Amino acid sequence: MLSFEGDRGRWGRDQRLWCALINENAPEVSRMRSLRKTVLLVIVASVLLVAALLRSWTPRAYTTVDVRQRPGAGVERLLEERLQEADNRYVSIPYRLRESVAGLLARNGCVCEGEAGGVHLPFAQLLFPRVSAHPLHTAFQASELDELKRRRAQEYHSFQMRSQTAADLLIVAEANSPLQYPTQGVEVRPLKTILIPGLALQELPRDLHAVNFTATLGTFNVAAEVEGVKIKGDGEMHMTLSSSLLPNLNRQLQFVTYTNTLFHPSTADTVQFETEGHQAVFTIKVRHGVTPKLYNPGPKGEYNISALVTIATKTFLRYDKLQDLIDSIRRYYPTVTIVIADDSEHPKPVTGPYIEHYIMPFGKGWFAGRNLAVSQVTTKYVLWVDDDFIFTASTKLEKLVDVLESTTLDLVGGAVREATGYTATYRQTISIEAGEEEGDCLHMRRGFHHVIQGFPNCVITDGVINFFLARTDKVQQVGFDPRLARVAHLEFFIDGLGALHVGSCDDVIVSHATKIKLPWGLSESDKTYAKFRYPPASSDATHTKNGLLYFKNRFQCLTHN
Ligand SMILES: *[C@@H]1O[C@H](CO)[C@@H](O)[C@H](O)[C@H]1NC(C)=O
Ligand SMILES: *[C@@H]1O[C@H](CO)[C@@H](O)[C@H](O)[C@H]1NC(C)=O
Repeated sequence: MLSFEGDRGRWGRDQRLWCALINENAPEVSRMRSLRKTVLLVIVASVLLVAALLRSWTPRAYTTVDVRQRPGAGVERLLEERLQEADNRYVSIPYRLRESVAGLLARNGCVCEGEAGGVHLPFAQLLFPRVSAHPLHTAFQASELDELKRRRAQEYHSFQMRSQTAADLLIVAEANSPLQYPTQGVEVRPLKTILIPGLALQELPRDLHAVNFTATLGTFNVAAEVEGVKIKGDGEMHMTLSSSLLPNLNRQLQFVTYTNTLFHPSTADTVQFETEGHQAVFTIKVRHGVTPKLYNPGPKGEYNISALVTIATKTFLRYDKLQDLIDSIRRYYPTVTIVIADDSEHPKPVTGPYIEHYIMPFGKGWFAGRNLAVSQVTTKYVLWVDDDFIFTASTKLEKLVDVLESTTLDLVGGAVREATGYTATYRQTISIEAGEEEGDCLHMRRGFHHVIQGFPNCVITDGVINFFLARTDKVQQVGFDPRLARVAHLEFFIDGLGALHVGSCDDVIVSHATKIKLPWGLSESDKTYAKFRYPPASSDATHTKNGLLYFKNRFQCLTHN
């Protein structure tokens, strides 16, 4: 109100000025001209001002969009009813179950079962890995568990509301329907208009041919009018087209447009398309285009590792090992950027060209450090290494870059050679079996899915060792949960399942510097490090980890070998 009064005041002044100007009787023509110009300017300015004022007064009519709801709830009910109708017709016909196949179908709920028995010899687990099962609710006190379950269920419910759209609905196309329509692939940007492709009516001639369209997030119209076709409800959410001439109606159907009018991107509108006795449903996705994040790879030719890759690591107390790593990297890649996250209690400077050393609060932890390091990367790829790794002539980053450049993979692991000569890739497959209220079951197994065509040393898997090259934007998108402070690695791949496409190659090898030392041979910093990094199994760290798997990822149990 105040600003309005202020503006009105100015308007009043301008008016007086204008009156003063036109009342003045100026003798010279040139003065008249300049006066006219000024008058004109003042008029224009005043008109603009009034327009601006009017605009700010008029209450604009906003339609509302219910962003709390998943759209299409009504359609959902309709679709369900139709499915049940069809199912009931054949209930009396008997069948014989094929156990071997039926057993593969998702059951109601899931279970985690370990393998019983086995030999209890040293190294038995290494040679004949057995599957063990672990419940995860044990991370919490029995007294708090009920309340926790309730909260988890509530959070899960709202997660589902956010992540599902009408495009996830089950839609069955009826047999012998005269309606022709697109079953998938129709997409509109928010508040934009498209032609709906593929619409037609194929039926025998009759007196009047009519079709109806109904939407919930937008309106229908026609981009052109065809003679002999009656259009009703154009520009509305419900439109009817009718004609006694079927070819004309079909011509008209080629010009039907859909305009998204409710701004609610990343959802879908469910369109009901009907004619007498038949009803079809299809979805139109409403979404923004995907904005790419592109990195300039530098001039064509050989891969320029310095331009494409940043090496990221996290250190804690082990400055001697870190220096060895840096020295070994510089032998092969003198200008590649190295990002170091450091949460030591008394940080020491780590300097040199192409080194970025980030000091964090003491003991922030393993994943927090990874997160920080990765957040600072500006190249297309990031290579993760541990601070006690050593580059050798076998650490050919070009090979890993080549895999990511030539495939759709987001992340590719290498191999780590232990001081004993043993080389590990630590490939893991991860699968999630759907459960009910108790949560899902998480199953992890050593191994992989397929060999990658064209790369005989590489396979597709779900989780890899602590030595991997990845697309920076994808790793940043998944992120490393900073609540995982001590023992954590595969948790990143669990969070990334579905978002990260993972491979592993065993011909790119980094060496692991840490030799197995007897306890009395450890230095003071080694001992402190071991205390933080390898806590006993029943410690808080394991509880945190299981607690996160239980609540954050909504698992009830875990099996692994
Ligand atoms: C089409 O919509 C109109 C108006 O809503 C309705 O009267 C008519 O029965 C509908 N026709 C069909 C075939 O569904
Ligand atoms: C490789 O990239 C770095 C950093 O972008 C640049 O300084 C260097 O000149 C490039 N080397 C070649 C051979 O293109």
